[in-house]
Amino acid sequence: MQTSSFESPFSFIIFGGSGDNSYQKIYPALYDIAEKKLFPKDFAIIATGRKYTHEEFYDFFQHSLTSDNRHHKHSIDNDFFKSLQEHIYFFPGDNTKMSFYTELNDYLNQLTKKGLPSGNRLFYLGLPQTLYPTVFKNLKKSGLHTSPHGWTRILIEKPIGSSLSSAKRYDKLFTDVFKEDQIFRLDHYLGKETLENIMSFRFENNIFEDLLHSQFLDNIQITAAENFGIDKRGSFYDGTGALKDVGQNHILQMVALATMGKPKDSNDNTLVNERLRLIKSLKTRPSDVVYGQYAKGVVNGKIVKGYLQEDHVKPKSNTDTFFALKAYVSNSRFEGVPIYIRAGKQLETWVTEISYIFKSQKHGDNVLTFRIQPNEGIALKFLTKKPGFTKMIEPAIMQFCYKHFHKGESFDAYEKLILDAFSARRTSFNTSEEIEAEWRFIDPLSRDRTPTRFYAAGSWGPQEAFDLIEKDGRYWIEPYAAFCQI
Ligand code: BG6
Repeated sequence: MQTSSFESPFSFIIFGGSGDNSYQKIYPALYDIAEKKLFPKDFAIIATGRKYTHEEFYDFFQHSLTSDNRHHKHSIDNDFFKSLQEHIYFFPGDNTKMSFYTELNDYLNQLTKKGLPSGNRLFYLGLPQTLYPTVFKNLKKSGLHTSPHGWTRILIEKPIGSSLSSAKRYDKLFTDVFKEDQIFRLDHYLGKETLENIMSFRFENNIFEDLLHSQFLDNIQITAAENFGIDKRGSFYDGTGALKDVGQNHILQMVALATMGKPKDSNDNTLVNERLRLIKSLKTRPSDVVYGQYAKGVVNGKIVKGYLQEDHVKPKSNTDTFFALKAYVSNSRFEGVPIYIRAGKQLETWVTEISYIFKSQKHGDNVLTFRIQPNEGIALKFLTKKPGFTKMIEPAIMQFCYKHFHKGESFDAYEKLILDAFSARRTSFNTSEEIEAEWRFIDPLSRDRTPTRFYAAGSWGPQEAFDLIEKDGRYWIEPYAAFCQI
């Protein structure tokens, strides 16, 4: 078991403590960090929000660990939860009011007087961006942006902005209040173990890295499919859409890790700059982007409603819940290799993977796949002779599965990123330059959109997504259903 790399006491202060992201990601991560004994002896988790009383909040926190959370499947220890509860506080209030900030400041100072840690403060913003101007202004006015007895840092969720110009405006807001070394711009895909491992796999194994080259590769494919809809997030999602919700951030970071050059040294900035260089080099054409929106259909044997019937969605909304696109990177290694990407909600299955498709007699005979989730692992598909007297060739799959590696010890992305922020490790966070480069790629696509096509929930997206790749004489690689199932 690893031990904590930071020993100083801290307070973790959550804005939007009754929100979906805190529930889905933050509370399970905090529980797991505590369970792995990676927190120091003294720490305080202070959730803020309007909705709950203290008791209701504890139930909400506990429920987040036991509900049907696809990333948090293991059971929880009730006695341990009770001991963790001693470190959890709920501060009720309305963060649009100045009084909330002064009272929070007083509260944190009182905790310090009682001997509880509040000198080092990490704020987490799980809030709609529209609230940022009020939040940042008031954090500064109340003095909460600095701590008299330690450090203050802030974790800001993606997406930042909804275009290059709005991202710049938001960034100015952040940097007017906080110094750059206090700001941690969070894209949780950068904390995913399996994505981080792509770099180790590529750069530590010459046998593969030498083959991952335009000379041997036919194309690269990224699939990020979800077999669920937008849940209760209609008001956020309808103004955002799939391309901006996951394309501008998670997907572009996956492209970067899969195709960037090897950092020349282990300096943190070198790695971040390689990601940036790659994102800056990305090219696509608006006509090579397909948008889709789920209509009523059947997912996992259940009838599900269409996007337009979801709560808080405009009746005639053309928001994309799916996109597919073809892009190219320009670096010496992958120049000319098409990258096909598809991502969306209410698709046939839940799977995220990156596949390198090698040139072979038949498209798809030789494929190296990084399964990001679920059943995390790496698989190599090749052809082999079927046992017997006649020569019959058939595909076989060789796989490495995380669940058999290090007794299946695993870290959720948020666990890693929260610990990174405490320890001020910055490589798995975005710089404002990276975010701007991502918007430079996305903006022209939003300005010149192809129409949004309906697809049946439970399918693999609209026909146009198939046409996009099939007109190039290729097809989407079907995710391997038995991947790391044993
Ligand atoms: C979030 C998006 O950033 O990432 C969600 O807002 C999406 O729409 C989620 O479902 C996917 O994250 P993960 O870790 O569940 O793959």
